[in-house]
Amino acid sequence: MSIDFQGRVAIVTGAGGGLGKQHALALAKRGAKVLVNDLGGNVHGEGGSVSAAQAVVDEIISAGGEAIANGASVTDYEAVQAMVKQAMDKWGRVDILVNNAGILRDKSFSKMEISDFRLVMEVHVMGAVHCTKEPQAVVPAMLVMACEDAPNRTIMCAGAGSFEVANITLTQGVHLGMSDDAPEQLLAAMAQVKDRHGELVPGSGSGQGSLEVAKAMAAHKA
Ligand SMILES: NC(=O)c1ccc[n+]([C@@H]2O[C@H](COP(=O)([O-])OP(=O)(O)OC[C@H]3O[C@@H](n4cnc5c(N)ncnc54)[C@H](O)[C@@H]3O)[C@@H](O)[C@H]2O)c1
Repeated sequence: MSIDFQGRVAIVTGAGGGLGKQHALALAKRGAKVLVNDLGGNVHGEGGSVSAAQAVVDEIISAGGEAIANGASVTDYEAVQAMVKQAMDKWGRVDILVNNAGILRDKSFSKMEISDFRLVMEVHVMGAVHCTKEPQAVVPAMLVMACEDAPNRTIMCAGAGSFEVANITLTQGVHLGMSDDAPEQLLAAMAQVKDRHGELVPGSGSGQGSLEVAKAMAAHKA
């Protein structure tokens, strides 16, 4: 595996579960020392405990990696400063920050309390996290974005073609599969990923899914 994070330090927020946990595990597997942050609240983002982050740290350490836990809320600036200090005190540097922490408030705008809206805005430090429902499938692109050869100003994946987003287009893309060398495959195929020949504006969100499924089926048949 040519993408190697040996000697580098990563902070992954909201890494007690879901995508963040997968990001932390994948970075650690490739040698990064990881500060695993998670508020550890309930599904509503209330309460808090460092135990969710600690469980991921334990998993990394038992696999031979190096990690420390942190229970700060990313909404608390002082706690975030202390979190960065914790990584600096332990390892003397921070190379990678994955702003993953997030919460959901599944309510229509008219039914949503202004405090909920405000909280979502506060927690989502990063405007867009490009992902699918399967956390592991997102991680290869994240590793490529954090490696030394990272393609600057490239967005790996964005939702396309749903109602009122005709301004977002979709390139043909490549199918990578789920093997351990998916990040290296992605890096090697970057020119093909960015090739705008045959670019389309899908008629609906399912256009993107159909393209992906067709490529996956073709790859499995080959
Ligand atoms: N899964 C998806 O389909 C999807 C789609 C679009 C965007 N996202 C975004 O990707 C990110 C990860 O998604 P997920 O599905 O893994 O979510 P998740 O709910 O499984 O994990 C989010 C983690 O963030 C933590 N967290 C919440 N508020 C925090 C805070 N203030 N400080 C620190 N940690 C906090 C939670 O405890 C939780 O462990 C989120 O920001 C989410 O909004 C996910």
